Amino acid sequence: MNTTKSVPVITIDGPSGSGKGTISRLLARELGFHFLDSGALYRLLAYAADRHGIDLADCDSLVRLSGDLDIRFPADGEQVLLDGEPVGDRIRTEAAGAGASRVAALPEVRRALLQQQRNFRREPGLVADGRDMGTVVFPDARLKVFLTASSEERARRRFNQLKEKNINSGYEAILQEIQARDARDSQRSVAPLTPAEDAVVLDTSGQTIDATFQCVRDLLKKRLNP
Ligand code: DC
Repeated sequence: MNTTKSVPVITIDGPSGSGKGTISRLLARELGFHFLDSGALYRLLAYAADRHGIDLADCDSLVRLSGDLDIRFPADGEQVLLDGEPVGDRIRTEAAGAGASRVAALPEVRRALLQQQRNFRREPGLVADGRDMGTVVFPDARLKVFLTASSEERARRRFNQLKEKNINSGYEAILQEIQARDARDSQRSVAPLTPAEDAVVLDTSGQTIDATFQCVRDLLKKRLNP
């Protein structure tokens, strides 16, 4: 019997820059739930592969490496620890995102990371952020949200985020990278980026984070007290 099935999960999926990371963190903090940043798992795997000199197309080595990684998300949700060491913003660059998108397209890698992701489901609950949280990893989630926004708006947000972190990237390059990543993430054969049939799709173009957060809260309230 799988007792974790009774632990509530809220999934927030969507393309990069849709606001899902910020909304998921806010929600996890407000509810006192655990938080899974599944994109960070793929980013960490690509980053660790680079450190070990493993080619991002070498599926067998990537699967072995994924089993050896010691990954922790501390309660503040900001600094991911790899083998006990904070990796900081090294996994947040556009290059790291592109590497993550490449390893994430490999079916064997996704299979290897599936149970690791499900292990984050613990009392009192979990907010899971990613691309396939509602479709593949937690199909029985209590609430599934799919956030989206135009690629131009997402590129603008990413540009501003990176600027705040003193990471210099041009807007046009970010836009191209986002569009290339969207195409790779949507067209891959396994777990492509697509809303679950029972997900609520919210377009966040032109919306503030506060407005989107309020919308998600309202959805949750309705779901918990129908
Ligand atoms: O959310 P993010 O930008 O940190 O994700 C980085 C890459 O990882 C993204 O391009 C696609 C991949 N990814 C995925 O395939 N499945 C997930 N659940 C999360 C991320």
